[in-house]
Amino acid sequence: MSVLITNVGELVTNQPAAQPGGAAYAACAGAALVIDEGRVAWTGPASRAPAADHRVDAEGRAVLPGFVDSHAHLVFAGERAAEFAARMAGRPYRAGGIHTTVEATRGASDDQLRSNLCRLAAEMLAQGITTFECKSGYGLTVRDEARSVAIAAEFTGEVTYLGAHVVPPEFGADVGGYVDLVCGAMLEACAPQAKWADVFCERGAFGRDEAAAVLAAGVAAGLWPRVHANQLGAGPGVQLAVSVGAASADHCTYTSDADVDALASSRTVATLLPGAEFATRHPYPDARRLLDAGVTVALATDCNPGSSFSSSMPLCIALAVREMRMTTQEAVWAATAGGARALARTDVGYLGVGARADLIMIDGPSHAYLAYRPGVPLVAAVWRGGERLEAPRGCPT
Ligand code: NIG
Ligand code: FE
Repeated sequence: MSVLITNVGELVTNQPAAQPGGAAYAACAGAALVIDEGRVAWTGPASRAPAADHRVDAEGRAVLPGFVDSHAHLVFAGERAAEFAARMAGRPYRAGGIHTTVEATRGASDDQLRSNLCRLAAEMLAQGITTFECKSGYGLTVRDEARSVAIAAEFTGEVTYLGAHVVPPEFGADVGGYVDLVCGAMLEACAPQAKWADVFCERGAFGRDEAAAVLAAGVAAGLWPRVHANQLGAGPGVQLAVSVGAASADHCTYTSDADVDALASSRTVATLLPGAEFATRHPYPDARRLLDAGVTVALATDCNPGSSFSSSMPLCIALAVREMRMTTQEAVWAATAGGARALARTDVGYLGVGARADLIMIDGPSHAYLAYRPGVPLVAAVWRGGERLEAPRGCPT
Protein backbone atom coordinates (compact mmCIF):
# COMPACT_ATOMS: atom_id res chain seq x y z
CA MET A 1 0.00 0.00 0.00
CA SER A 2 1.43 3.39 -1.00
CA VAL A 3 1.21 6.36 1.36
CA LEU A 4 1.28 10.06 0.43
CA ILE A 5 2.39 12.44 3.17
CA THR A 6 1.38 15.88 1.98
CA ASN A 7 1.19 19.46 3.16
CA VAL A 8 4.65 19.12 4.71
CA GLY A 9 5.89 22.49 6.03
CA GLU A 10 9.55 21.56 5.53
CA LEU A 11 10.72 18.27 4.05
CA VAL A 12 14.34 17.60 4.96
CA THR A 13 15.70 15.31 2.25
CA ASN A 14 19.50 15.62 2.48
CA GLN A 15 21.64 14.22 -0.32
CA PRO A 16 22.39 10.50 -0.39
CA ALA A 17 25.70 10.00 1.37
CA ALA A 18 27.02 7.98 -1.56
CA GLN A 19 26.70 10.87 -4.03
CA PRO A 20 29.34 13.54 -4.62
CA GLY A 21 28.36 16.53 -2.47
CA GLY A 22 26.56 14.06 -0.21
CA ALA A 23 27.51 16.09 2.82
CA ALA A 24 24.80 18.58 1.96
CA TYR A 25 21.70 19.39 3.96
CA ALA A 26 18.74 19.81 1.64
CA ALA A 27 15.10 20.64 2.29
CA CYS A 28 12.04 21.96 0.51
CA ALA A 29 8.96 23.85 1.71
CA GLY A 30 5.36 22.99 0.86
CA ALA A 31 6.39 19.47 -0.01
CA ALA A 32 5.04 15.95 -0.20
CA LEU A 33 6.52 12.47 -0.15
CA VAL A 34 5.27 9.06 -1.27
CA ILE A 35 6.21 5.81 0.45
CA ASP A 36 5.83 2.52 -1.39
CA GLU A 37 7.05 -0.94 -0.45
CA GLY A 38 9.06 0.41 2.46
CA ARG A 39 11.00 2.90 0.32
CA VAL A 40 10.68 6.54 -0.62
CA ALA A 41 9.02 6.50 -4.05
CA TRP A 42 8.60 10.21 -4.77
CA THR A 43 9.36 13.64 -3.25
CA GLY A 44 8.46 17.08 -4.57
CA PRO A 45 6.09 20.01 -4.30
CA ALA A 46 2.75 19.09 -2.69
CA SER A 47 0.94 20.63 -5.64
CA ARG A 48 2.40 18.00 -7.99
CA ALA A 49 2.11 14.95 -5.75
CA PRO A 50 0.86 11.75 -7.38
CA ALA A 51 -2.11 9.82 -5.99
CA ALA A 52 -1.53 7.06 -3.43
CA ASP A 53 -3.59 4.44 -1.61
CA HIS A 54 -3.50 6.36 1.65
CA ARG A 55 -3.07 10.09 2.41
CA VAL A 56 -1.59 11.71 5.53
CA ASP A 57 -1.99 15.46 6.00
CA ALA A 58 1.07 16.81 7.83
CA GLU A 59 -0.77 20.11 8.40
CA GLY A 60 2.36 22.15 7.81
CA ARG A 61 4.59 20.13 10.11
CA ALA A 62 8.19 19.24 9.24
CA VAL A 63 9.21 15.78 8.06
CA LEU A 64 12.82 14.60 8.40
CA PRO A 65 14.81 11.41 7.89
CA GLY A 66 14.73 9.23 11.00
CA PHE A 67 17.72 9.85 13.23
CA VAL A 68 20.71 7.52 12.82
CA ASP A 69 22.37 6.98 16.20
CA SER A 70 25.82 5.66 15.37
CA HIS A 71 27.11 5.27 18.94
CA ALA A 72 25.28 3.66 21.87
CA HIS A 73 26.10 1.19 24.66
CA LEU A 74 22.78 -0.49 25.40
CA VAL A 75 23.68 -3.96 26.64
CA PHE A 76 24.13 -3.54 30.38
CA ALA A 77 22.45 -4.00 33.74
CA GLY A 78 22.25 -1.66 36.71
CA GLU A 79 22.52 2.10 36.82
CA ARG A 80 24.90 4.75 38.17
CA ALA A 81 22.75 7.65 39.30
CA ALA A 82 24.78 8.04 42.51
CA GLU A 83 27.97 8.40 40.45
CA PHE A 84 26.27 11.08 38.33
CA ALA A 85 25.05 12.95 41.41
CA ALA A 86 28.55 12.83 42.95
CA ARG A 87 30.00 14.19 39.72
CA MET A 88 27.55 17.05 39.70
CA ALA A 89 28.65 17.73 43.27
CA GLY A 90 32.23 18.14 42.09
CA ARG A 91 33.79 14.71 41.69
CA PRO A 92 35.52 14.25 38.28
CA TYR A 93 34.46 11.61 35.73
CA ARG A 94 36.82 8.65 35.46
CA ALA A 95 36.35 5.71 33.16
CA GLY A 96 36.66 3.45 36.25
CA GLY A 97 32.89 3.65 36.79
CA ILE A 98 32.61 1.23 33.88
CA HIS A 99 33.60 -1.57 36.30
CA THR A 100 30.41 -1.03 38.32
CA THR A 101 28.36 -1.72 35.21
CA VAL A 102 30.55 -4.68 34.23
CA GLU A 103 29.83 -6.32 37.59
CA ALA A 104 26.07 -5.77 37.27
CA THR A 105 26.06 -6.97 33.66
CA ARG A 106 27.94 -10.17 34.44
CA GLY A 107 25.40 -10.91 37.18
CA ALA A 108 22.35 -10.31 34.97
CA SER A 109 20.41 -12.94 33.05
CA ASP A 110 20.05 -12.77 29.26
CA ASP A 111 16.41 -11.80 29.75
CA GLN A 112 17.30 -8.92 32.05
CA LEU A 113 19.80 -7.59 29.51
CA ARG A 114 17.31 -8.08 26.70
CA SER A 115 14.48 -6.28 28.44
CA ASN A 116 16.72 -3.35 29.40
CA LEU A 117 17.87 -3.03 25.79
CA CYS A 118 14.29 -3.34 24.62
CA ARG A 119 13.19 -0.46 26.86
CA LEU A 120 16.01 1.77 25.63
CA ALA A 121 15.36 0.89 21.98
CA ALA A 122 11.68 1.81 22.50
CA GLU A 123 12.72 5.13 24.05
CA MET A 124 14.95 5.82 21.07
CA LEU A 125 12.28 4.99 18.54
CA ALA A 126 9.73 7.20 20.29
CA GLN A 127 12.24 10.03 19.95
CA GLY A 128 12.82 9.45 16.26
CA ILE A 129 15.87 7.16 16.15
CA THR A 130 15.12 4.63 13.42
CA THR A 131 18.63 3.14 13.14
CA PHE A 132 20.99 2.60 16.05
CA GLU A 133 24.36 1.08 16.64
CA CYS A 134 24.86 -0.99 19.79
CA LYS A 135 28.14 -1.93 21.46
CA SER A 136 29.12 -4.73 23.78
CA GLY A 137 31.77 -3.83 26.34
CA TYR A 138 30.23 -4.37 29.77
CA GLY A 139 30.84 -8.13 29.83
CA LEU A 140 34.60 -8.41 29.28
CA THR A 141 34.69 -12.20 29.48
CA VAL A 142 34.29 -14.47 26.46
CA ARG A 143 30.87 -15.59 27.68
CA ASP A 144 29.60 -12.14 28.61
CA GLU A 145 30.85 -10.39 25.47
CA ALA A 146 29.46 -13.18 23.28
CA ARG A 147 26.00 -12.93 24.84
CA SER A 148 26.17 -9.13 24.69
CA VAL A 149 26.71 -9.08 20.91
CA ALA A 150 24.13 -11.83 20.43
CA ILE A 151 21.48 -9.86 22.35
CA ALA A 152 22.40 -6.64 20.52
CA ALA A 153 22.00 -8.48 17.21
CA GLU A 154 18.38 -9.25 18.09
CA PHE A 155 17.67 -5.51 17.84
CA THR A 156 20.01 -4.05 15.23
CA GLY A 157 22.32 -4.96 12.39
CA GLU A 158 24.81 -2.36 13.60
CA VAL A 159 26.49 -4.41 16.30
CA THR A 160 29.90 -3.42 17.62
CA TYR A 161 32.31 -5.66 19.48
CA LEU A 162 33.88 -3.57 22.26
CA GLY A 163 35.74 -6.21 24.26
CA ALA A 164 38.48 -3.55 24.49
CA HIS A 165 36.41 -1.17 26.62
CA VAL A 166 38.61 -1.39 29.73
CA VAL A 167 40.87 -4.06 31.24
CA PRO A 168 38.71 -6.02 33.71
CA PRO A 169 39.92 -6.29 37.33
CA GLU A 170 40.79 -10.01 37.15
CA PHE A 171 43.61 -9.11 34.73
CA GLY A 172 45.15 -6.60 37.17
CA ALA A 173 48.03 -4.86 35.39
CA ASP A 174 48.25 -7.54 32.70
CA VAL A 175 46.99 -5.38 29.83
CA GLY A 176 48.82 -7.53 27.27
CA GLY A 177 47.16 -10.68 28.55
CA TYR A 178 43.74 -9.11 28.20
CA VAL A 179 44.51 -7.75 24.72
CA ASP A 180 45.45 -11.29 23.70
CA LEU A 181 42.06 -12.52 24.88
CA VAL A 182 40.24 -9.67 23.10
CA CYS A 183 42.12 -10.50 19.88
CA GLY A 184 41.77 -14.24 20.33
CA ALA A 185 39.01 -16.36 21.86
CA MET A 186 36.74 -13.39 22.65
CA LEU A 187 36.91 -12.05 19.10
CA GLU A 188 36.29 -15.51 17.70
CA ALA A 189 33.14 -15.83 19.81
CA CYS A 190 31.85 -12.35 18.94
CA ALA A 191 32.80 -11.73 15.31
CA PRO A 192 30.02 -13.81 13.73
CA GLN A 193 27.35 -11.54 15.29
CA ALA A 194 29.13 -8.20 14.87
CA LYS A 195 29.80 -5.74 12.06
CA TRP A 196 32.23 -3.41 13.83
CA ALA A 197 35.24 -3.60 16.17
CA ASP A 198 35.76 -0.67 18.53
CA VAL A 199 38.39 0.17 21.15
CA PHE A 200 38.53 2.75 23.94
CA CYS A 201 41.89 4.34 23.11
CA GLU A 202 42.49 6.54 26.14
CA ARG A 203 44.78 6.89 29.13
CA GLY A 204 43.44 4.38 31.68
CA ALA A 205 42.03 2.13 28.95
CA PHE A 206 44.13 1.10 25.89
CA GLY A 207 47.21 2.78 24.40
CA ARG A 208 47.98 3.23 20.73
CA ASP A 209 49.73 -0.09 20.10
CA GLU A 210 47.18 -2.12 22.03
CA ALA A 211 44.31 -0.36 20.26
CA ALA A 212 45.98 -0.91 16.87
CA ALA A 213 46.35 -4.63 17.66
CA VAL A 214 42.66 -4.91 18.60
CA LEU A 215 41.52 -3.19 15.41
CA ALA A 216 43.87 -5.24 13.22
CA ALA A 217 42.58 -8.48 14.73
CA GLY A 218 39.02 -7.26 14.20
CA VAL A 219 39.70 -6.44 10.56
CA ALA A 220 41.28 -9.88 10.06
CA ALA A 221 38.05 -11.38 11.44
CA GLY A 222 35.94 -9.35 9.01
CA LEU A 223 34.96 -6.49 11.34
CA TRP A 224 35.20 -2.84 10.31
CA PRO A 225 37.07 -0.50 12.64
CA ARG A 226 35.81 2.45 14.69
CA VAL A 227 37.48 4.09 17.69
CA HIS A 228 36.62 5.82 20.98
CA ALA A 229 39.15 8.61 20.55
CA ASN A 230 40.31 11.64 22.54
CA GLN A 231 37.36 11.66 24.93
CA LEU A 232 38.99 12.50 28.25
CA GLY A 233 42.25 14.03 27.04
CA ALA A 234 44.63 14.42 24.12
CA GLY A 235 45.95 11.14 22.73
CA PRO A 236 46.62 8.97 19.71
CA GLY A 237 43.03 7.79 19.10
CA VAL A 238 42.07 10.15 16.29
CA GLN A 239 45.29 9.56 14.36
CA LEU A 240 44.92 5.82 14.83
CA ALA A 241 41.34 5.91 13.54
CA VAL A 242 42.42 7.79 10.43
CA SER A 243 45.43 5.58 9.83
CA VAL A 244 43.35 2.38 9.85
CA GLY A 245 40.62 3.95 7.70
CA ALA A 246 38.03 3.76 10.48
CA ALA A 247 34.51 4.80 9.51
CA SER A 248 34.42 6.99 12.58
CA ALA A 249 36.49 8.50 15.38
CA ASP A 250 34.07 9.02 18.25
CA HIS A 251 34.13 11.77 20.90
CA CYS A 252 36.98 13.96 19.48
CA THR A 253 36.66 16.20 22.53
CA TYR A 254 40.38 16.99 22.89
CA THR A 255 41.88 17.37 19.42
CA SER A 256 45.12 18.96 18.22
CA ASP A 257 45.50 20.84 14.93
CA ALA A 258 47.19 17.71 13.54
CA ASP A 259 44.18 15.60 14.57
CA VAL A 260 41.80 18.00 12.83
CA ASP A 261 43.99 18.04 9.69
CA ALA A 262 44.13 14.24 9.67
CA LEU A 263 40.34 13.97 9.92
CA ALA A 264 39.82 16.63 7.25
CA SER A 265 41.97 14.80 4.74
CA SER A 266 40.36 11.40 5.41
CA ARG A 267 37.01 9.69 5.02
CA THR A 268 36.80 9.14 8.78
CA VAL A 269 33.78 10.83 10.33
CA ALA A 270 34.16 12.71 13.64
CA THR A 271 31.22 11.51 15.73
CA LEU A 272 30.50 14.00 18.48
CA LEU A 273 28.64 12.91 21.61
CA PRO A 274 27.50 15.99 23.51
CA GLY A 275 25.46 13.91 25.97
CA ALA A 276 28.80 12.75 27.40
CA GLU A 277 30.09 16.28 27.94
CA PHE A 278 26.74 17.27 29.42
CA ALA A 279 26.91 14.47 31.98
CA THR A 280 30.62 14.63 32.78
CA ARG A 281 31.14 18.41 32.73
CA HIS A 282 33.97 18.05 30.24
CA PRO A 283 34.11 20.86 27.67
CA TYR A 284 32.03 20.28 24.55
CA PRO A 285 34.00 19.37 21.41
CA ASP A 286 34.59 22.29 19.09
CA ALA A 287 32.31 21.29 16.23
CA ARG A 288 32.78 24.63 14.48
CA ARG A 289 36.53 24.11 14.24
CA LEU A 290 36.03 20.62 12.79
CA LEU A 291 33.38 21.73 10.29
CA ASP A 292 35.35 24.79 9.18
CA ALA A 293 38.34 22.53 8.54
CA GLY A 294 36.19 20.32 6.29
CA VAL A 295 35.69 17.37 8.65
CA THR A 296 32.49 15.32 8.27
CA VAL A 297 30.64 15.43 11.59
CA ALA A 298 28.03 13.07 13.01
CA LEU A 299 26.05 13.43 16.24
CA ALA A 300 25.14 10.43 18.38
CA THR A 301 23.74 9.83 21.86
CA ASP A 302 26.47 7.63 23.41
CA CYS A 303 23.58 6.29 25.49
CA ASN A 304 25.16 4.37 28.39
CA PRO A 305 24.60 4.22 32.14
CA GLY A 306 27.80 6.08 33.05
CA SER A 307 28.76 9.01 30.90
CA SER A 308 25.56 9.79 28.96
CA PHE A 309 22.32 8.17 30.09
CA SER A 310 20.15 9.79 27.45
CA SER A 311 18.50 8.23 24.41
CA SER A 312 17.47 11.61 23.04
CA MET A 313 18.85 12.75 19.69
CA PRO A 314 16.87 16.02 19.93
CA LEU A 315 18.84 16.77 23.12
CA CYS A 316 22.09 16.16 21.21
CA ILE A 317 20.93 18.49 18.43
CA ALA A 318 19.99 21.21 20.89
CA LEU A 319 23.36 20.93 22.68
CA ALA A 320 25.26 20.92 19.38
CA VAL A 321 23.52 24.09 18.27
CA ARG A 322 23.65 25.93 21.59
CA GLU A 323 27.02 24.77 22.92
CA MET A 324 29.05 23.60 19.92
CA ARG A 325 28.22 26.35 17.44
CA MET A 326 26.67 24.09 14.83
CA THR A 327 23.89 25.60 12.74
CA THR A 328 20.50 23.96 13.07
CA GLN A 329 20.94 22.55 9.56
CA GLU A 330 24.40 21.15 10.31
CA ALA A 331 23.15 19.53 13.51
CA VAL A 332 20.17 17.88 11.82
CA TRP A 333 22.37 16.67 8.97
CA ALA A 334 24.89 15.27 11.49
CA ALA A 335 22.12 13.38 13.35
CA THR A 336 20.76 11.83 10.15
CA ALA A 337 23.07 11.65 7.12
CA GLY A 338 26.15 12.08 9.32
CA GLY A 339 25.18 9.06 11.42
CA ALA A 340 24.58 7.09 8.24
CA ARG A 341 28.05 8.02 6.98
CA ALA A 342 29.56 6.97 10.32
CA LEU A 343 27.94 3.56 9.88
CA ALA A 344 28.84 3.30 6.17
CA ARG A 345 25.13 3.15 5.35
CA THR A 346 23.81 4.48 2.05
CA ASP A 347 20.14 3.55 2.53
CA VAL A 348 19.26 5.77 5.50
CA GLY A 349 19.83 9.36 6.67
CA TYR A 350 18.22 10.93 3.60
CA LEU A 351 14.83 10.96 1.91
CA GLY A 352 15.48 10.63 -1.81
CA VAL A 353 13.82 8.13 -4.12
CA GLY A 354 14.99 4.63 -3.19
CA ALA A 355 15.94 5.47 0.40
CA ARG A 356 14.52 3.34 3.18
CA ALA A 357 11.28 4.97 4.31
CA ASP A 358 12.58 5.83 7.80
CA LEU A 359 11.17 9.23 8.65
CA ILE A 360 9.75 11.36 11.41
CA MET A 361 7.17 14.11 11.60
CA ILE A 362 7.71 16.72 14.28
CA ASP A 363 5.35 19.11 16.01
CA GLY A 364 6.81 22.21 14.40
CA PRO A 365 7.05 23.70 10.92
CA SER A 366 10.83 23.37 10.53
CA HIS A 367 13.82 21.30 11.60
CA ALA A 368 14.97 24.25 13.73
CA TYR A 369 12.30 23.42 16.29
CA LEU A 370 14.44 20.50 17.45
CA ALA A 371 16.88 23.02 18.97
CA TYR A 372 14.47 25.92 19.38
CA ARG A 373 12.17 23.90 21.67
CA PRO A 374 14.67 21.93 23.77
CA GLY A 375 13.34 19.31 26.13
CA VAL A 376 9.91 19.18 24.46
CA PRO A 377 8.76 15.82 23.03
CA LEU A 378 8.31 16.99 19.43
CA VAL A 379 8.33 13.68 17.56
CA ALA A 380 4.70 13.27 16.53
CA ALA A 381 5.01 10.23 14.24
CA VAL A 382 7.66 7.75 13.14
CA TRP A 383 7.78 5.56 10.02
CA ARG A 384 10.33 2.78 9.90
CA GLY A 385 10.73 0.80 6.70
CA GLY A 386 7.49 2.44 5.58
CA GLU A 387 5.52 1.26 8.64
CA ARG A 388 3.92 3.96 10.72
CA LEU A 389 4.57 3.45 14.40
CA GLU A 390 1.95 5.46 16.27
CA ALA A 391 3.14 6.49 19.73
CA PRO A 392 5.77 3.73 19.59
CA ARG A 393 5.52 1.51 22.61
CA GLY A 394 6.79 -1.88 23.64
CA CYS A 395 9.56 -3.88 22.10
CA PRO A 396 10.54 -2.42 18.71
CA THR A 397 12.26 -5.44 17.17
O1 NIG B 1 31.56 6.36 25.44
N1 NIG B 1 34.27 5.96 26.72
C1 NIG B 1 33.98 4.85 27.01
N2 NIG B 1 32.76 4.36 27.07
C2 NIG B 1 31.60 5.14 27.42
C3 NIG B 1 31.50 5.33 28.88
C4 NIG B 1 30.97 4.17 29.50
C5 NIG B 1 30.70 4.29 30.96
O2 NIG B 1 31.08 5.26 31.67
O3 NIG B 1 30.07 3.33 31.39
C6 NIG B 1 31.57 6.43 26.65
O4 NIG B 1 31.49 7.53 27.23
FE1 FE C 1 30.92 5.34 23.98
